Amino acid sequence: MLETLVININQKGNIMEIKKIGVMGCGAMGLGVAQVCAQAGFPTVAVKATPGSTDKIRAGLDKSLSKMVERGKLAVEKKDATLGLLHFTTSEAEVADCDLIIESIIEDQEIKKALFQRLEGIVSPQALLTTNTSTLSVTALMAVCKHRERVAGLHFFNPAPIMKLVEIIHAFETSEDTIATLDQLCKKLGKDPVIVQDTTGFIVNRLLTPYMLSAIRLLEMGTGTIADIDHAMKSGAAHPMGPFELADYIGLDVVEAMTMNIYQDMHQPHVAPPHTLTRLVQLGYLGRKTNKGFYDYSVKPPIANPQLRHPVA
Ligand SMILES: NC(=O)c1ccc[n+]([C@@H]2O[C@H](COP(=O)([O-])OP(=O)(O)OC[C@H]3O[C@@H](n4cnc5c(N)ncnc54)[C@H](O)[C@@H]3O)[C@@H](O)[C@H]2O)c1
Repeated sequence: MLETLVININQKGNIMEIKKIGVMGCGAMGLGVAQVCAQAGFPTVAVKATPGSTDKIRAGLDKSLSKMVERGKLAVEKKDATLGLLHFTTSEAEVADCDLIIESIIEDQEIKKALFQRLEGIVSPQALLTTNTSTLSVTALMAVCKHRERVAGLHFFNPAPIMKLVEIIHAFETSEDTIATLDQLCKKLGKDPVIVQDTTGFIVNRLLTPYMLSAIRLLEMGTGTIADIDHAMKSGAAHPMGPFELADYIGLDVVEAMTMNIYQDMHQPHVAPPHTLTRLVQLGYLGRKTNKGFYDYSVKPPIANPQLRHPVA
């Protein structure tokens, strides 16, 4: 069912003070969001959602910040300050004194719902609870919470330290105070926020997902090769990446999850998951993060995945 309820998103709310931020999940997005928060001067607790040491994660971030210092893009003092403000842990309880939680774990509604329920037992009733979901209903996550007015979406883009846009998702019972606070916070993080009603895929993924799916269908029809379709969109439509490069960059599991959520909402054939996408995810070829997806990144420069000779459907 399409969500058609129109919420007044132009009311002005009171701004609450955010002093400390908790980020749940240290995957590609969680780590990037935690970096953004600490780089903007907020003490940040980043919770690794799966067991095991956090040393590798801190070392990886240290390395990528050092590269930025080498390239002259970050002052060494800023790098040290960022790392100093970041605390990595596997204990959810350590976000107890945070004023804002940004959840960025796996794109699975039931797992996220369970996390929101646990978080309500950990943080104060005033702390804001937000999700970085790409396409899940923020209202459905809000529904499991007691203090629904403080629940909203805070959708960053990949890579979070570079991309300026953040979609602030106004769900069914989100308060104007929550929205106003998140709007100001995003600006403090150096971001460029837009307030969006809770519609599956919000603005960007609602438009981008069907576009990537159409490219996969063109490949399946034999209209063009992966490289030709990407080249056409870069050279002809001035896109910085072609649709296959973009899908690999996002992660094909994430693209598939977005597709399923949008399909379940719209029930239209053009947003059903294409055969090739399903098969790649089943095989564990998830794009850049696994070194193989529509492209094979184990060779330089990457080549189109040789297993994807068409017709593939
Ligand atoms: N990849 C993107 O381009 C992008 C952009 C914006 C938002 N998002 C959203 O951000 C969130 C995280 O995506 P990502 O790209 O960082 O994915 P990722 O695969 O890099 O990270 C997923 C995280 O979830 C954790 N996880 C795995 N199984 C879990 C479980 N059973 N319970 C709890 N945690 C578990 C992993 O340890 C990891 O930290 C998702 O909601 C996704 O939709 C992704």
